Amino acid sequence: MVTVHAPAPSAFEAIFGVPPDAEGAAPGRVNLLGEHTDYNDGFVLPIAIPQQTRVALRPNGRNRFRLHAQALGQAVEFTLEAAPVEHFATYVYGCLAVARAAGAAIVPLDIHVASDVPMGVGLSSSAALEVATLRGLRQLLALPFDDVQVAQMAQRAEIDHAGVRCGILDQMAASLADTTRALLLDTRSLERRFVPLPPEAAILVIDSGVPRSLAASAYNLRRAECEQAALLLGVASLRDVPDAVAVETLPEPMRRRARHVLTENARVLQAVDCASAPDFGALMNASHASLRDDYEVSIPELDRLVSLLQEHPDVYGARLTGAGFGGACVALCRDSAVADVAAGVVQAYGRTGGRGRVLVPPLAAATAGTSSTALSSA
Ligand code: GLA
Repeated sequence: MVTVHAPAPSAFEAIFGVPPDAEGAAPGRVNLLGEHTDYNDGFVLPIAIPQQTRVALRPNGRNRFRLHAQALGQAVEFTLEAAPVEHFATYVYGCLAVARAAGAAIVPLDIHVASDVPMGVGLSSSAALEVATLRGLRQLLALPFDDVQVAQMAQRAEIDHAGVRCGILDQMAASLADTTRALLLDTRSLERRFVPLPPEAAILVIDSGVPRSLAASAYNLRRAECEQAALLLGVASLRDVPDAVAVETLPEPMRRRARHVLTENARVLQAVDCASAPDFGALMNASHASLRDDYEVSIPELDRLVSLLQEHPDVYGARLTGAGFGGACVALCRDSAVADVAAGVVQAYGRTGGRGRVLVPPLAAATAGTSSTALSSA
């Protein structure tokens, strides 16, 4: 496995003229199974991707924060009294505000963000930014927060300050996952354990090229539908539905939403016991069908890309990943064939008018024909 590092923290010095006092880093994640289950107290199975976000910081002795984001070529100034208007800055602002509410003595800082986590495609660039920011603050101020508390604070920042009523999947993955094993997480108890990938299998992530424009509003709507379904069934959350029969009595669309959540939870638990890549892949295929038909968060381009992946002889299974409505697909492939699958499927998708982009392994696009950079179980 090759880790691709974001630019060195000395970029901070180039902007602000002095080295940083502290830095934090966190990876993006790809969710292998367990989509739209986390805000229903269910099970998820993410793995970290090699790309990371790095946040460097230092008190600046001024009365305003100065935030520079390398990827966006943007600098923003703000105070804790008013959230910045720039979207990416609200994640950093949210973390500062949440840390202050938790008792941290936050003073104005110079902050530099460097990231190679792909943005806006369902690989949790926002959670990587939040967790990296909180880790940097933890180091700077010697804060007593452990990695689970960091994830919880990052989730609070996203809900309160970015306006997405997300679950805790992304932030727990950014804070606790690694790139070699999947992280099985019970989002209710936060119990977790690492699970090996099936033998001779590797992960491939391809962006569909379609931005997730509807994601935030549709996401909050799905969440409300699940809450409505739980209310109608008289349970605290869909995690507590005893069997699938009860779900069939619900009116639409709650019936199909709840059915997705129940079947998806079952798929995560089955996958964890899967010895073989083909069995794991079949669960990913079933997950995509459920997200498309019952949860209705797919779009034609994602369906097309997923079908091309599923039809490839060296792919065990594929599905959309993340919230849906655009963004990326994840596939489990034969580890010796990842780069060939990537090149072949991106080409075939291109012939249908799509503009695919290989995101994981990070170098697959440049090294088509080899699999030396594969994120593999080996
Ligand atoms: C987004 C949210 C997560 C999760 C996924 C869907 O990534 O931030 O909490 O709900 O969508 O599984």
